[in-house]
Amino acid sequence: MKLTFTNKINQDIEVVFHPVLQDENQINSLIKKINPADKELILQKIKKQNFIGRKAQTFVFDRAEQVIILLGTGQAKKLSIEDWRNTAGWIIVCLKKYFANNIGLVVRDWLKGNSDIEHLGQALAEGLVLANYNFDKYKKLDKNKIKVDIKQIVVEISAAQRTKLGKGWQRGLLLAQGAIKARDLINEPGSQVTPTFLAKEAQQIVKQNKNISVKILDRPAIKKLGMDAFLGVDQGSHQPPKLIHLVYKPKATTKDKIALIGKGITFDSGGLNIKSFEGMAQMKNDMAGAASVLGLFSVISQLNLKVEVHGIIAACENMPSGRALKPGDIVKSMQGKTIEIGNTDAEGRVTLADALTYIQKQGIKKIIDLATLTGACMVALGTDYAGLFSNNNQLTKELLKATEVSGEKLWRLPLPEEYRQLNKSKVADIRNIPVTRLGEPSTAALFLQEFIEKDVIWSHWDIAGPAYAEKPMNSYIPTGGVGFGVRTLLEWLK
Ligand code: BES
Ligand code: MN
Ligand code: ZN
Repeated sequence: MKLTFTNKINQDIEVVFHPVLQDENQINSLIKKINPADKELILQKIKKQNFIGRKAQTFVFDRAEQVIILLGTGQAKKLSIEDWRNTAGWIIVCLKKYFANNIGLVVRDWLKGNSDIEHLGQALAEGLVLANYNFDKYKKLDKNKIKVDIKQIVVEISAAQRTKLGKGWQRGLLLAQGAIKARDLINEPGSQVTPTFLAKEAQQIVKQNKNISVKILDRPAIKKLGMDAFLGVDQGSHQPPKLIHLVYKPKATTKDKIALIGKGITFDSGGLNIKSFEGMAQMKNDMAGAASVLGLFSVISQLNLKVEVHGIIAACENMPSGRALKPGDIVKSMQGKTIEIGNTDAEGRVTLADALTYIQKQGIKKIIDLATLTGACMVALGTDYAGLFSNNNQLTKELLKATEVSGEKLWRLPLPEEYRQLNKSKVADIRNIPVTRLGEPSTAALFLQEFIEKDVIWSHWDIAGPAYAEKPMNSYIPTGGVGFGVRTLLEWLK
């Protein structure tokens, strides 16, 4: 998809989009500016079809030589970056009907109230690329697959604004590419994406990027480190576990180090506390946190970041078998605390406990973990929001700020000191399920906090909701893996 600029889009561009605000005067003056021969007729048609520029509403003048599409962006004093991204996604939806390789875009009216051209470029690229994503590689028989293939996008924009738009565009392409890498990994079946598969993905990333290295530990090495909690979850599976540790090092060495940990349960059957039919159906997505870490690393070295970034994935399956963990079992974590397994289906926190200890032992003082941790987080926040927990207000502020650009939805939930005791065990130092189901996202986060040292800044994201879209979430998030977190984290790291 090539981006080019022009002062005036000419007739050889097949489809031209004019995003318009929900504003009658503006729509009328736009039609006058376009000045088609049948201007009066067009204005009448707009009235008749009741086109007012509502969000995603379209008005089309379908001509032999050129299709012109007015695309509503809704009522707004100021369009947000997310509005732009969504509108870009609708362009793809429209193109499924009005097929074209070369499209034009007039951004003049789109900029009303918001002159942030660089972010417009970024949102445009993200919206177009993410909306055009489709996981259809296993659909061999479907002859009606509609793939929009934009070769060129010509933007009508003043010369002074082009550099900024182009810069944002490049960044947007990269961020979208990272999210798509994560989507692909989530959407692949669980028997395909095993811990070994994830390890190979990490090695592939290292091959393609000079600034990234990886260490992959297999069962004996993991055992040697004393990660018996992690190995406990793994022990019912026939797939060997992998501890994946990626490191991105910037050109200039720095003391500024950050770790990103992704929950990497490549399939969560629940273990002996086996899930129901409905509960298990989408559990190939229980490695969505890991997928986002890998997606992020697949593009990180092209962003010239100044910080050292570590990516950690304790990858294994959660399966029932004659060797599996049993309810009532007690495992010893790498940190030293013993964990009573009250329910084998609360496995994520058990693997994460060891992943958190592993990276803190290497002296990292700032950690963010992404985990499809509790179904209850979806009950609390619905499908679109991830729950954010943190022991640090500054970090929380920075992360929420980053979402203003990325459009990803994070909502802070509490880590109440008073709830700590709910994770108490009668026979071990801690139990992997609390005594009550009330407040489950918080008690799960508090369990993780038991493995965070006092001087470590940490944020945990429960992404059970937005990791996977059961139905399209908006114009640019189709059904399937979302790649949640990749774009926000890259924004924050910048
Ligand atoms: N991976 C699940 C959480 C989940 C559920 C993610 C639905 C996405 C959608 C996690 O391992 C799990 O099973 N959690 C249990 C915890 C409970 C046993 C305390 C849950 O949410 O029911
Ligand atoms: Mn589970
Ligand atoms: Zn799980």
